[in-house]
Amino acid sequence: MPLTSIELTPRIGSEIKLGKADLLTGQYAPNIRALLVERGAIVLRGAHLSDQELRDVARTLGDLRLGAVKRGADGATLHEGEEGVLKVSLDEKVNPDYARFLFGNHLWHMDGTYEETPPFASLFMPYRLSREGGDTMFASNYAAYDDLPDDEKHRLENLTVVHTMEAALFPAKRNCSLEEFAVWQSYPNRSHPLVWHHKSGRKSLVLSTSAAYVEGMHAAESHDLLQRLMVHATQDKYTYRHKWQPGDLAIWDNTGVMHRAMPFEENSVREFHRCTLNGEEAITGADQPVAEPV
Ligand code: OGA
Ligand code: MN
Repeated sequence: MPLTSIELTPRIGSEIKLGKADLLTGQYAPNIRALLVERGAIVLRGAHLSDQELRDVARTLGDLRLGAVKRGADGATLHEGEEGVLKVSLDEKVNPDYARFLFGNHLWHMDGTYEETPPFASLFMPYRLSREGGDTMFASNYAAYDDLPDDEKHRLENLTVVHTMEAALFPAKRNCSLEEFAVWQSYPNRSHPLVWHHKSGRKSLVLSTSAAYVEGMHAAESHDLLQRLMVHATQDKYTYRHKWQPGDLAIWDNTGVMHRAMPFEENSVREFHRCTLNGEEAITGADQPVAEPV
């Protein structure tokens, strides 16, 4: 049976119609993966999965990330969730390791840009919704790249961008303390090509708040370029905004889309449960440096 889906916007996002039992068999996993990469984000209403079912579905789609993946300079180990389920909450009682970093989720980002091979995808479901706000938005870095004029595509080809945690977090907390800033700075930086040549043959911009500066470019020029690309990539026509209902499941292709949490009330009970699928390819640029057109 083919997978039934409808497009939520022309450029990004599809809703699939599938019963929970069919989802759990994994028989549709190849179709879901293909649709995910094609459409950037997938939602399923009324899935009502338990944590265990979320893990089970994740395992049909890829390599579920388990255990600790990051170590802070202070020696603290950050756990990517208990047995593969990360509790996404700003409440330190709910997630003692991560809550102090997750306010950064409010700005457009890709996950794991500090890793050579960022996660392929995440599966995300509401556990407790906020009273107000708290939608999640997705923006297609594939579509944003595709629509650039050819000469600009060419100019971006050979550029390399340094991604840092302080670049990602400072804009979301301008009144941070020096100590907080020092903790962010203690995490390793990572350079990535600005244009990702995916194994699938597609290309996308590697944009995220974590993109601090373009290597070898004047700071002012780099700032303006990254800011302009971010404004370009997050135009309404490249985005889908998901309004959550209990029981929803959303999956995003972290390699080709950015996402963000929209504002919600302070001290909210908002909590989502997330399974992360490990990356399957490092971010790679063009095989050969691309010559400037003469
Ligand atoms: C995340 C994230 C957005 C949200 O879990 O990586 O950015 O809406 N979440 O909570
Ligand atoms: Mn995120």
